[in-house]
Amino acid sequence: MALRSALINVMVAAAKKAAKGLVRDLGELENLQVSRKGPADYVSKADRRAEEILHAELRKARPAYGFLMEEAGAIDGTDTSNRWIIDPLDGTTNFLHGIPHFAISIGLERDSELFAGVIYSPVYDELYVAEKGGGAFLNGRRLRVSGRPKLDDALIATGIPFRGTPSHDLFLRQIGLVMGTCAGIRRYGSAALDLAYVAAGRYDGYWENGLFPWDVAAGIVLVREAGGFVSDLAGGRRMLAGGGILAANPVLHAPLAALLAQATPAGS
Ligand code: IPD
Ligand code: CA
Ligand code: CA
Repeated sequence: MALRSALINVMVAAAKKAAKGLVRDLGELENLQVSRKGPADYVSKADRRAEEILHAELRKARPAYGFLMEEAGAIDGTDTSNRWIIDPLDGTTNFLHGIPHFAISIGLERDSELFAGVIYSPVYDELYVAEKGGGAFLNGRRLRVSGRPKLDDALIATGIPFRGTPSHDLFLRQIGLVMGTCAGIRRYGSAALDLAYVAAGRYDGYWENGLFPWDVAAGIVLVREAGGFVSDLAGGRRMLAGGGILAANPVLHAPLAALLAQATPAGS
């Protein structure tokens, strides 16, 4: 196992502290205050408490860095080169149903590039870490994306749009194409873990439309550091700017991109 940098240690300590509250709240779901952000988009006191802990811990360790957080939004820092991008609870719907598949996701953007990522799944006790140029690790074990070379053997993850989101027709076209071509599809409900699982070689690829920076920042670093390719759905770099995401092993990325492109009407 490679020695962890001071930066990764700071991120891991914050994630582990916030995770304690999430696990406690998971055991007392009936007492949790829940509100709606959209027709099928929920936020709970657990999300907010975890975010407050992450904010406090990371600010203590790196007082000048800025923040982009799902619940509180953007907070500028005096150091404009470094910004944390945080989802305090990725997989809120799972969490609120008592399904243990959720994670804390902390990314660090440095000089406008994604530089480091930590994703922690508290119930599985799986800690994924990656830093640019330093490799990706799960509980200290080096990660490598899958080596599966053919789409017809591939297991692909995705996210299904919630009620009230605009991309239902696009998604139905995409899933029809992938279902007819690949071995299997999974929808587990946490974009951060979907990316971590691509990095770990569990999934051969993953795509989703309409995500936010906090869903994917840490996971992008993990996939790249595990040798995978990440792009937006048009093959570009707008993954943090609403372009959707496609992550896969290096052999399958281009064929998957070509397959998904068939779902997008010409000119859009
Ligand atoms: C959601 C999860 C889910 C994805 C949604 C996200 P949240 O994040 O990552 O897998 O399909 O698009 O919004 O709301 O649980 O943090
Ligand atoms: Ca999320
Ligand atoms: Ca969230």
